[in-house]
Amino acid sequence: MMGSVSAIATIFFLLSSLLLASSDALERPPIVDGLSWNHYFRNCPRLETIVRTHLQKVFKKDTGQAPALLRIFFHDCFVQGCDGSILLDGSPNEKSQPANIGIRPEALQTIEDLRSLVHNHCGRVVSCADLVVLAAREAVSLTGGPRFAVPLGRKDGLTFSINATRNLPPPSFRTGQLLETFAARNFSTTDVVALSGAHTFGRAHCSTFFSRINQTDPPIEPSLAKNLSNTCPSAQAPNTAVLDVRTPNVFDNKYYVNLAKRQGLFASDQDLFSDSRTKGIVKSFASNEKLFFNSFADAVVKLSQLDVLTGKQGEIRAKCSVANKGKEGLVVTSVVENAVDLRGHMSH
Ligand code: HEM
Ligand SMILES: *[C@@H]1O[C@H](CO)[C@@H](O)[C@H](O)[C@H]1NC(C)=O
Ligand SMILES: *[C@@H]1O[C@H](CO)[C@@H](O)[C@H](O)[C@H]1NC(C)=O
Ligand SMILES: *[C@@H]1O[C@H](CO)[C@@H](O)[C@H](O)[C@H]1NC(C)=O
Ligand SMILES: *[C@@H]1O[C@H](CO)[C@@H](O)[C@H](O)[C@H]1NC(C)=O
Repeated sequence: MMGSVSAIATIFFLLSSLLLASSDALERPPIVDGLSWNHYFRNCPRLETIVRTHLQKVFKKDTGQAPALLRIFFHDCFVQGCDGSILLDGSPNEKSQPANIGIRPEALQTIEDLRSLVHNHCGRVVSCADLVVLAAREAVSLTGGPRFAVPLGRKDGLTFSINATRNLPPPSFRTGQLLETFAARNFSTTDVVALSGAHTFGRAHCSTFFSRINQTDPPIEPSLAKNLSNTCPSAQAPNTAVLDVRTPNVFDNKYYVNLAKRQGLFASDQDLFSDSRTKGIVKSFASNEKLFFNSFADAVVKLSQLDVLTGKQGEIRAKCSVANKGKEGLVVTSVVENAVDLRGHMSH
């Protein structure tokens, strides 16, 4: 009796997971070799729950960590690929380069905290590079944005690149320069407008927008210019302004409403409403949040696959800020196993 009930339950489970898998597959875009949608299904089934639960607590205390984590993801992936290189210590290092101004140390620490939680639970099987992507996904979905699946299976890189941080676009870029920079990495015009929508939350330091304050091209709405002048007595002032004057801590489509009112913070933002190639897309996102959310999710999944290391490439770091050395380079499956092993050696 019990047997047939559990057999029926098993069949039902198999059928429903088949149905779920196939309906998901219809919506999911193609992914690069080596990544998969269920990479940690066996080795760390609770991964996504652990990440989400921890970040819920973190954002409750400091909502600024959500935008900080989304930006870390972009700056990791756009500089020699999504390989966790932005997390590495060193002097000099990648994270302290001019293009990385404003990267929040507490958000880098959050990635390390996630690593520690996840490795304590599953062993050293999840890469820091994947945690950066998962944290960015939660940063969006826990603050009002879309929830979407991300492919996993990235390995951590062994190096970082100071020079490659120059590939990051500066806030003074006009639309033409932005489109060129992103097209070189296979991103479409719609992708660029959607990704810029990440500036729907978070902050920026005076030095990043000071030169725009009294600029007329692209235009700036006078009350915003006045407020920014008050916030920033000089470009060197350590103060910050919000990126989205309407809903500074929420992931929504208000960024595009700001652009239509000339209240974009950076020239790179505001010019999207001046350039004929992008203006129509800005308008469509301002009036249709669902359209923005879908385009944003597609572009982030694309961004998350830039030059990834997979399979035998790279490693899984034991600490996100340092590359492994010697024995740490060998993947261990559980912390407990390791401890037993050590005792065994000591008794001989
Ligand atoms: C399109 C070209 C882009 C330019 C020129 C640009 C530039 C900047 C600059 C200068 C800052 C201010 C940093 C500071 O002063 O603290 C900033 C902040 C931010 N950027 Fe971008 N960015 C771009 C694209 C992106 C993309 C693609 C994403 C993510 C998908 C992103 C996410 C963010 C977030 C969330 C913040 C706020 C960070 C915080 O509050 O700590 N940006 N960006
Ligand atoms: C980095 O850029 C500097 C200055 O342009 C150059 O001298 C150096 O060779 C570059 N390093 C690498 C590793 O490409
Ligand atoms: C862009 O996509 C095309 C075809 O989809 C591919 O051949 C090319 O290698 C890609 N380029 C980059 C920089 O990823
Ligand atoms: C911008 O112009 C206003 C009005 O002329 C002036 O008060 C303000 O100091 C200027 N701000 C900057 C940063 O140049
Ligand atoms: C400028 O600051 C005033 C006073 O804090 C505020 O009411 C207004 O919404 C701000 N305007 C913009 C565009 O930031």
